Amino acid sequence: MGNCKLLVLLYLFSTATSLTISRKLPDDLVLATASSSYQIEGAWNEDGKGESMWDRMVHTRPDKIVDHSTGDVACDSYHKIKHDVELIKSMGLEQYRFSISWPRILPYGYANHINLRGVQYYNELIDELIANGITPVVTLYHWELPQIFQELGGWTNALIVEWFEQYARVVFDHFGDRVKLWITINEPKQICWFAYSNGSLAPGLEISGIADYICARNVLLSHARTFHLYKNFYQSVQKGKIGITIDCPWMEPATNSTNDYKAADRARQFDFGLYAHPIFTPTGDFPEIFKKFIAERSRAEGYQQSRLPSFSENEIRNIRGTADFFGLNYYTTSYTKDRKPHPIGKPSSLKDSRIENYKDPNWLIGADPSFRSVPWGFRKILKYIKQNYGDPDVFITEIGFPDSEKFNDTKTVKYHNDHLNELLDSIQVDDVKVKTYTVWSLMDVFEWMRGYTVGFGLYHVDFQDNNRTRTPKLSREFFHTLTRTRTV
Ligand code: NOJ
Repeated sequence: MGNCKLLVLLYLFSTATSLTISRKLPDDLVLATASSSYQIEGAWNEDGKGESMWDRMVHTRPDKIVDHSTGDVACDSYHKIKHDVELIKSMGLEQYRFSISWPRILPYGYANHINLRGVQYYNELIDELIANGITPVVTLYHWELPQIFQELGGWTNALIVEWFEQYARVVFDHFGDRVKLWITINEPKQICWFAYSNGSLAPGLEISGIADYICARNVLLSHARTFHLYKNFYQSVQKGKIGITIDCPWMEPATNSTNDYKAADRARQFDFGLYAHPIFTPTGDFPEIFKKFIAERSRAEGYQQSRLPSFSENEIRNIRGTADFFGLNYYTTSYTKDRKPHPIGKPSSLKDSRIENYKDPNWLIGADPSFRSVPWGFRKILKYIKQNYGDPDVFITEIGFPDSEKFNDTKTVKYHNDHLNELLDSIQVDDVKVKTYTVWSLMDVFEWMRGYTVGFGLYHVDFQDNNRTRTPKLSREFFHTLTRTRTV
């Protein structure tokens, strides 16, 4: 009897330890890190670069950035190609996702004037990555619109579809021989909602419930046009893959009530469904519930037609299915509650959605309180994507946590450890086809409206020091170990 008990104890101990401390990552899961041009490059007016709408906003509206800082120098990565590539290589990461600054290569926006020194910078970066065995993943648009186009309405001007296609052609022509993984657009919700509706990102406009919907339409059409450009004119020779990155937080119903379930679904459609649904479902169109709510509200406000512009049959055909993979940026989760209809008044997309989101105060909290660690939410969003968007290959193009500790970022380490465990369940139990895990970010960067007050980086950057010295954090050691052991 005594022996038996001992055996059971030994068995329980071994299962418990094997469950908690040694789970192998699948061989084909790529570990990567990322950045974006405005957030790291600096050199905002060097070597012929044109002005972007971010340059304009930080220089004219410093009040929009909490610490009144700018990306004029940022991490000075424009002058540190070799050093930065070495940082990635030393961790053993296999891929690096970065973006191209549109006005750095096309200072006047249009493709008839190419800034060759800007092109040279990206050529050197790509070559250095490849020479060090790191695969480049390039985002065409991580929010750096040439200011000249913003003067004309930016993403609310239907001509942007043409402008974007011209720009994409220049990018594919110059870099497509070596770059095989493309992301057209990063985080459409931030481009449309935060920039044209709530006013916190450049160009800082607050034309809610109107400009953000026009923007959504133009972002989808620009993405689709670029996808077809690549497929029709470049794919056969360059043989790459192209998709879009959509930021999808998870939204969990606050209670078991039908109303809260419906509210959570509505929240997802208003948050990311309006971008994902047209591309990843056979409808090729905005979600029905989204169209219905806005149409009803617009009528009540006295509009003849919905504030949400519609797509023609031809546009629907063009948008549907335009992605080789689903690029997912995941950070956090919230609870969603149903909310009584708002009184009719000023148009607003928030009012259109009739929902309320909130966080559980017990969730591990980041340096910015809107970032909470909720690993189960990560698994749920992955399952949702599989079930609702045609079981695509998923590239996690960003995931990360802003620790309040500069170097000893134990919360960030815990965040990644917990999320990697959920990821293994997603892959092994839920059968989600996740192919890449990309840590945001390689180093601390200019965090948009948060300036330099929060850092997601694997390396700390000293922004007071002219050299912008990079110092490894604990999370950098975590990933270095992970690339060697491939075990969480
Ligand atoms: C997603 C954005 O793509 C990136 O630019 C930003 O820094 C992170 N979220 C963190 O806020």
